[in-house]
Amino acid sequence: MKIILILMIISCLGTVSTSPPLKYYDSIFSFGDSLADTGNFLLSGAIPHTVIGKLPYGETFFHRATGRCSNGRLVVDFVAEAYGLPYLPPYLALAKGNKKFEHGVNFAVAGATAVDVRFFYDRNIGKIVWTNSSLGVQLEWFKKLKSTFCSTKEVTDCAKYFKRSLFLVGEIGGNDYNYPSLAGASIIQLKALVPLVVESIAVTISMLIEDGAVELVVPGNLPIGCNAVYLTLFRTSDKSAYDRNGCLKAYNAFSEYHNSQLKLALEILRHKYPHANIIYADYYGAAKTFFDAPKNYGFSEGTLVTCCGGGGPYNFNDSARCGHTGSRACLDPSTHANWDGFHLTEAAYRHIALGMVKGPFTSPPLTFPPLNDF
Ligand SMILES: *[C@@H]1O[C@H](CO)[C@@H](O)[C@H](O)[C@H]1NC(C)=O
Ligand SMILES: *[C@@H]1O[C@H](CO)[C@@H](O)[C@H](O)[C@H]1NC(C)=O
Repeated sequence: MKIILILMIISCLGTVSTSPPLKYYDSIFSFGDSLADTGNFLLSGAIPHTVIGKLPYGETFFHRATGRCSNGRLVVDFVAEAYGLPYLPPYLALAKGNKKFEHGVNFAVAGATAVDVRFFYDRNIGKIVWTNSSLGVQLEWFKKLKSTFCSTKEVTDCAKYFKRSLFLVGEIGGNDYNYPSLAGASIIQLKALVPLVVESIAVTISMLIEDGAVELVVPGNLPIGCNAVYLTLFRTSDKSAYDRNGCLKAYNAFSEYHNSQLKLALEILRHKYPHANIIYADYYGAAKTFFDAPKNYGFSEGTLVTCCGGGGPYNFNDSARCGHTGSRACLDPSTHANWDGFHLTEAAYRHIALGMVKGPFTSPPLTFPPLNDF
C-alpha cells in the first residue's frame, strides 16, 4: 500500500517536471539605458544627475523616486505586469542585499551607451557621459550573475530556465547619439556612428543567444525629432524643418535610419541563429501613434511640451531641468507624453508597452500573449 502511494507520487512528480506547460515567461532580463533603468544608475553611486533620485521623479505611481527616469512605470515594468512577474530588481541592488532574482534582473543604466565609453572619452566628450556602464559592461554583469545563479536552488537547469526567459535588449543606442548631438555634432556625423552602435547591439545579442537566450526583444529608437531637448536645441525659424506634428523632420529621419540599420542587423542574426526568436520592437511606430493623434491617447496638453521643466517653448530649460530649482511638474502628467525633455511619461510608456505585448509593434510577435491587462 505504502509502495503504491510512493510510486503514484513519483509518477505524478514525473509528469509535472517533464512537461511543464510553456504558456508564459518565467523571467525577464533587461539591458539598456534610462528608458529601462529601474535603479542601477542611482545605486552606482553616481554623483551628477542624482536629481532622478528625488521627487517629482516617481510621483505618480511609486510616490517616491526609484531611479526611474519618469513620473512612474517604464515599458519594462508594464511588460513584467503583463506576464504576472514582479518588477525587476536592478542588478546593483543584488550586490547590496538578498533581493530575489529568479524572475529576472534589470541591467539597464540611465545614460548608458551601446558603444564602449572610451569612444566618447577619446573624442573629448567623456565629461558629459553619465555612466561607464555601457552595454558591454551590462553583458559582463549578466555573465557574472549567470555563473553564480545557475547553480542555486531556484535555478537548477539554466538552459531550460533561459528558454522561458524574455530578454529585452534596449532601447539602447539613443545616448550614443544624444551625447555627440549635445556636443554639437551634425546629423551627418551622427550617421557615421550608426554602424558602430548597431554592431555593438548585434554583438550583445549574439553573446546572449550563445549564453542561452532564445526569445529576445530589441527595441529601436524613439522619434528624437519630437524630443523636447532636440526641439529646444535645434529650434529654427524655418517652418519646413518641422513635420505636421511639430517634430524636427531631419532628426526623425535619422531615428528611422538607425532603426532600418538595426532591423537589417537583426535579419542577419535570424539567419545565424534560426532557433532564436529575435523580435524587433518598433518604439518609433508605437510613439508615432500618439504624436500623430495626441488626443486619442489622453494627451490633452500635447506631446511636445514637457510636463516637468523650467520654461521655454517646450518647457525644457537646460538651466532648470526637471527636479532642479526653477522647474516644476505639471498637475496631471497623464495629459503629457513628454516627462522631462529626454524621457516620456508613464502614460506614454504604457502605450508603447501595450503596442509591444499586444501588437502590432513587434515583428515577429512575442511567443506568449500577455496574461494580464495593464
Ligand atoms: C570611465 O571611463 C573613462 C574612460 O575609460 C575613465 O577615464 C573614467 O575614469 C571612468 N570613470 C569611472 C567612474 O569609472
Ligand atoms: C531658464 O531657467 C533659468 C534659471 O532658473 C531662468 O533664469 C530662465 O528665465 C529660464 N528660461 C526660460 C525661458 O524660462
